[in-house]
Amino acid sequence: MLTAEQNRLLTDVSPGTPLNRYWKRQWIPALRSAALEPGGAPVKVELLGEHYVAFRGDNGEAGFLREACPHRGVSLALGRNENNRLTCIFHGWSFNAEGRCVKMPTEKDQGFCDKVKGQGFRVREGGAIVWVYLGEGEPPAFTDYAFTYLGREHCRPRASYNEANWLQNLETLLDSAHIGLLHADTTADKRLPQAGLQLVSGNDTPKYTLESRPYGLRSYSLRTSGGEQDYLRVTEFVAPGTAFIGTTDAEAGFVIIVVPVNNTRSLQWYVYWDTRQPIDQNLPDFALLGTDESDDNFAASRQGTPNYGQDRAAMRAGESWSGIPGVIFEDYAVAESIPIVDRTREFLGSGDLAIVRLRRELMERIRLSEAGEDCLKAEQSDYRALRALAAMIPVQTDIRVFTDRQQDERRKAFSA
Ligand code: FES
Ligand SMILES: [Fe+2]
Repeated sequence: MLTAEQNRLLTDVSPGTPLNRYWKRQWIPALRSAALEPGGAPVKVELLGEHYVAFRGDNGEAGFLREACPHRGVSLALGRNENNRLTCIFHGWSFNAEGRCVKMPTEKDQGFCDKVKGQGFRVREGGAIVWVYLGEGEPPAFTDYAFTYLGREHCRPRASYNEANWLQNLETLLDSAHIGLLHADTTADKRLPQAGLQLVSGNDTPKYTLESRPYGLRSYSLRTSGGEQDYLRVTEFVAPGTAFIGTTDAEAGFVIIVVPVNNTRSLQWYVYWDTRQPIDQNLPDFALLGTDESDDNFAASRQGTPNYGQDRAAMRAGESWSGIPGVIFEDYAVAESIPIVDRTREFLGSGDLAIVRLRRELMERIRLSEAGEDCLKAEQSDYRALRALAAMIPVQTDIRVFTDRQQDERRKAFSA
């Protein structure tokens, strides 16, 4: 349970709030690299309750600007993309990829250009994603996760939007206890061997162990079967919105990143990668199930459908637990069911330990951010080395030692 103030602190991302300032200190995955064509139409992007426009010049360089033209506020999404610049069609003010104004046809003195500041933002591309730094001053070290070293052949980022506050989406990612329930249609299906999800079936009371890490949290959830083996899932959480989710495959992985678009809308990334073979040949079954083809918003046609198409007849007939087709949309339906949850009225149990720790971690980082202290600990974080895990282990195994060893091996497999 949170106080009303704490709930607001963690959910209100509007400009001027502590959460907004904290998020602006991060590298944020904004859109797919492929969504920007050289010389093509600029793309509108909303992040943290503010409006931006992204474009790619003919030279391939990506630019990320405030949407409103600094002259009289017209949308630069209407602009001309030529000569590696975005040019406002109203009076022709022209901006390069860094957001610097380089031409003002309406002014005799072109020196006025230099007075226009703060229009553009730093951009990085990695893992077939355009990342942006929306904060002031120098950006922090880039979150160079292993997949950001891969191109589109081995890494497939899929973006989607849902109409829920970011925290709800995030909490679901750390909530191992729901996997065997909400996703029972998948976890109980023995024909779907991928990712080891079936191993949670019939055990909805995992034992959590949470460790603080410079980048966020490591969450172990252990399910005992009464036999000789236990089932361990390890999730690596990188504050504020990234979770590496365990699979049984050492060289293929996936990560989910939640980004607040505004207070009641989230951008949720599913990034899949495989170092050995083209990722399109090894997507997990749940990745495409029920989703639209577009990787720029694979949830588009499902949004606004009542309860994500929940099928009451299938529920009654015992054919489906949730009635909602697709693991991803089961999560979305739950998150969207109340746009901003009132956390002053919850009853958190032992199954919610990870949620409690997650909130505490975020509140502490927001506090550090507000105090002007290091809220990222990027210098101490080896982002590239992060891997999640799902494995059967002999009972009495030291989960920490086991996980560290596994991660070392996964790292080696990656660099090979
Ligand atoms: S509003 Fe953009 S140039 Fe005038
Ligand atoms: Fe889920």
